[in-house]
Amino acid sequence: MPDKSTSSEARPSGASATAEVATPPRKIYPIVKYGDPILEKPTAAVNKFDTNLEQLAEDMFASMYAAQGVGLAAPQIGLNLRMAVVDVTVGKNPEAKIVLINPEITHAEGEVREEEGCLSIPGFRGYVIRPQFVTVKALNAKGEPFEMRGENMLARAFCHEIDHLNGVLFLQHLSMLKRDLIKRKIKKLKKQGEW
Ligand code: NI
Repeated sequence: MPDKSTSSEARPSGASATAEVATPPRKIYPIVKYGDPILEKPTAAVNKFDTNLEQLAEDMFASMYAAQGVGLAAPQIGLNLRMAVVDVTVGKNPEAKIVLINPEITHAEGEVREEEGCLSIPGFRGYVIRPQFVTVKALNAKGEPFEMRGENMLARAFCHEIDHLNGVLFLQHLSMLKRDLIKRKIKKLKKQGEW
């Protein structure tokens, strides 16, 4: 059994112990599902930047990772805010975390047709044509402006999330036939109490 002085030395330094304590537990929000009107309404611009907003961004990342998503927009957790988070590595690379506040697409180029899904429409996917390259102008969680170019999957995520902030779902990019098919299936699931 180690004596007191040994176990004391084995403890982490004061700095790292403080850092652990300083990280608050993250709130995992339930994801709003298709059918809730908030998903089809344009959002209001964010105009208050404080620590609460930074905490909300982190809670959104945590909620997105819990749901295994690559993007999450505020309306999907029931908030009417022009804000989304994106991480195409699903938490594998902390540097891939992107907070988009009041984002706008300033440039789009090329076309890629790829299958797409949405955390608010679980179990359904469809092919959507999106630009291959997209440039986004936005603010980060501290309210600092930035511009970022995304390619392929990242460009798709930017478009999908900014669509959400405009009240648009990927269903609207599908053929009427495919869209109606999915809507009918969801209606059935609702009736069965499974949606
Ligand atoms: Ni979505």
